Amino acid sequence: MKQVVSTAKRIEGTPVPPGDKSISHRAALLNSIASGTATVSHFCEGDDRRAMLRCLKGLGVNIKRIASPDGDPSSDRFVVQGHGPYGLHEPDDVLDAGNSATTMRLVAGLLAAQPFMSVISGDSSLRSRPMDRITRPLIAMGATIMGRGQDTLAPLSIRGGDLKAIEYKLPVASAQLKSCLLIAGLHAKGETIIHEPGASRDHTERMMRAMGADVTIKRRTVTVRHSALSPMDVYVPGDISGAAFWLVLGACHPNASIRIRRVGMNPTRAGVVEILKAMGAKIKVENIHEDAGEPSADLVIESSQLEATEISGEIIPRVIDELPILALAACFAKGTTRIKDARELRVKESDRIDATVEGLSALGANIQERTDGMVIVGGNPLTGTEVNSYGDHRIAMTMAIAGLIAKGETTIHGAEAAGASYPRFWDTLDSLLPTGQK
Ligand code: S3P
Repeated sequence: MKQVVSTAKRIEGTPVPPGDKSISHRAALLNSIASGTATVSHFCEGDDRRAMLRCLKGLGVNIKRIASPDGDPSSDRFVVQGHGPYGLHEPDDVLDAGNSATTMRLVAGLLAAQPFMSVISGDSSLRSRPMDRITRPLIAMGATIMGRGQDTLAPLSIRGGDLKAIEYKLPVASAQLKSCLLIAGLHAKGETIIHEPGASRDHTERMMRAMGADVTIKRRTVTVRHSALSPMDVYVPGDISGAAFWLVLGACHPNASIRIRRVGMNPTRAGVVEILKAMGAKIKVENIHEDAGEPSADLVIESSQLEATEISGEIIPRVIDELPILALAACFAKGTTRIKDARELRVKESDRIDATVEGLSALGANIQERTDGMVIVGGNPLTGTEVNSYGDHRIAMTMAIAGLIAKGETTIHGAEAAGASYPRFWDTLDSLLPTGQK
């Protein structure tokens, strides 16, 4: 599907981003192995979340959707009937994680402890993403795992079993890898000790603790002991990674005012707000409160004059999904912005360094690729043209925001990719345009 976006004269509105994708995954998975029933509200509606539910249902978990009386599907609730730590069933077919690496890596942690055989696979993009980062430690814990490319690529066949705890130094600051091992560690004998090289998102630790697991965190080390989980009702806060598109639109469009409601502000995710503020964006954080152990707030943003910055080091894992849209923000900032230490972008849904540089260059940006990042000289005017999503939701949405500020018309091919994390993205974008331009 292609979408055509043209220069917006004015941007104004109050978007409510979908439920956070990462928290939605964890709320479904952890409640599936809890002993009892829990309700998850404001669940992310995207394709990735559907992939997680499909895999959990394939393992015998009963998950029922309760339609909201107001007829708004985003207000529907999901009731998850937990099976306890070992109550899952051997799937009778391949588990399909679609495009979602979070699904594959977190579910693999669960399968590694189950006394049966399963196979998990996904689409061609997911089948090309590195899985050795999870297979190596899971094999060390006692699971039998085989995959293509000497056990580095999906499909993965997993025969779980009695796991023993390990102490493990993560080679990359990855929340998917950390969470995979924490989930396996819940079922392992002994103390599973995980050392992280940097602070990645900590939703798994927070939720496990809130559900009664024995989890301790000391600086960059997380320890989990064999634990049973109690079910927990979760209201999923709005996805800050989805809100980031409106933040950058509000800051970079010359005539904009946006209030984004109920956005998750977990400090391991809110790096994008810190960076935009440091660049001079006029962002206000209001109505701070907490939903199921996760802080959230309303974010108000207005047209701003941005200055260039350097994005590198410890903040990278906290903005890993926001780097393409921050690269767009840098196109409107005064000076040269450098993004470094972000080699992980090359193994996301697309090679996000290539995809961002190619798309923004086509629009006229002065942007250059580096092995581990990008260098962007702000100030070149952007002009609409034809661009591609490369099947990657974050690239599709970055190009759409660029198209609202660029001169003329921008055509985005593969625009449906946005649905992985933000199914109503295109409707929300329309709602921010002045009447007459919708
Ligand atoms: C996620 C972690 C990040 C992020 C992804 C979601 C998660 O990946 O890019 O969109 O929910 O744990 P890595 O952990 O591989 O960096």
